[in-house]
Amino acid sequence: MMYAAIMGYGTIGSGVAEILTECKDKITRSAGQEICLKYVLDLREFPDSPVADRIIHDFQVIESDPQIRLVVETMGGLNPACSFVKACLKAGKHVITSNKALVEAHGTELMEIARENKVNFLFEASVGGGIPIIRTLYRCLMGEEIQEITGILNGTTNFILTKMDQEGAAFEKALKEAQELGYAEQDPSADVEGHDTCRKIAILTAMATGREVHYEQIHTEGITRITDVDFQYARKMGMSIKLLGTARISGDKALAMVAPVMIGSENPLYGVRGVYNGILVKSQMLGETMYYGSGAGKLPTASAVVADLIEAVQQDKEPVSAGWRNEQQLMEESGKFRYRYFVRIEGAAAQKKEQIQKAFGDAETIVLEGTDEFALLTGEFFEEEFVKRAIGFDTESQKAGEDGIRQMIRVQVQ
Ligand code: HSE
Repeated sequence: MMYAAIMGYGTIGSGVAEILTECKDKITRSAGQEICLKYVLDLREFPDSPVADRIIHDFQVIESDPQIRLVVETMGGLNPACSFVKACLKAGKHVITSNKALVEAHGTELMEIARENKVNFLFEASVGGGIPIIRTLYRCLMGEEIQEITGILNGTTNFILTKMDQEGAAFEKALKEAQELGYAEQDPSADVEGHDTCRKIAILTAMATGREVHYEQIHTEGITRITDVDFQYARKMGMSIKLLGTARISGDKALAMVAPVMIGSENPLYGVRGVYNGILVKSQMLGETMYYGSGAGKLPTASAVVADLIEAVQQDKEPVSAGWRNEQQLMEESGKFRYRYFVRIEGAAAQKKEQIQKAFGDAETIVLEGTDEFALLTGEFFEEEFVKRAIGFDTESQKAGEDGIRQMIRVQVQ
């Protein structure tokens, strides 16, 4: 028998406790021994919960109990999660976390402490909820050079964008519904401004390259500026708009971005709807693989935590090498990304033909009946080149006393 403690009895922590009880036989068979939950650390009391007799409020109890070999961190945030996790690793305990902020900000240091103390530090649930993507990268694809990872990594924004696409809902209404259903983070800006996706793609890029990547290094845009009108155009073009976290790796350099992108039905991520997540990985020998499932929620996320617990038991004597080195990944400027661009402009296309040709070369024109504007779908440009052209177009428009570009959305190049 191996004893475990859970730190944080919130949605995921309580899900882990539930699975440990519900699936006890299967977990024991897989781990080779029983995992016995001894403590649940939380500030609150849970007198009516099944773990009422195991609730503790003092972290020292876990740290100083030599019987505790497994610790689950589902508190979230950095403080005191980081110091508790460090102390557990130093005390020779395996740590499993679902906390992406912790992994992204302090992963490198925690991985080093785990290596020094010959224990496992596992974090499958920190990206893609229940989808097995971290283990896929360090185990299944361990012989592959990863060339690209593109993911719908945030269920809340995907739920909102799906509502806008399928029901023509406005952004605010769709966000309110996501909050009512409990999908959105406490502060919805983490979801809708793209920061949650950014942390996740930073972790995946670090997993793929074996080097540290921080979210500050990744150009990030959210979905707050996407409107129902954009979706009307997208539908007309047979496309949808998804918030994508993308990383491309070439040689010793990586290129990453988080932004809403128009994708067509030929893209496997097109069919990822609602609160689901999808992650497309392109690797050197295998080619494209796609991982799809519940990216959030109590039991799916807890399922990933439990799988890590089992792996930690199995690898008790020989800790898993999951993570990255204490070395910074070289990141290229996001201007090196190459897209086509969807651009909305006020007025009539026929009257701006020359100006458009001069700025963007040959571009397709899309008209939405009953509006005072039109849209362009440009050819392919490097982002840095497109930005120069867009600024040129805006400057010319201003000189003519007209509005410039109303909206720009990147369009996936296959
Ligand atoms: N708010 C996150 C999401 C939760 O919507 O995907 C999982 O990280």
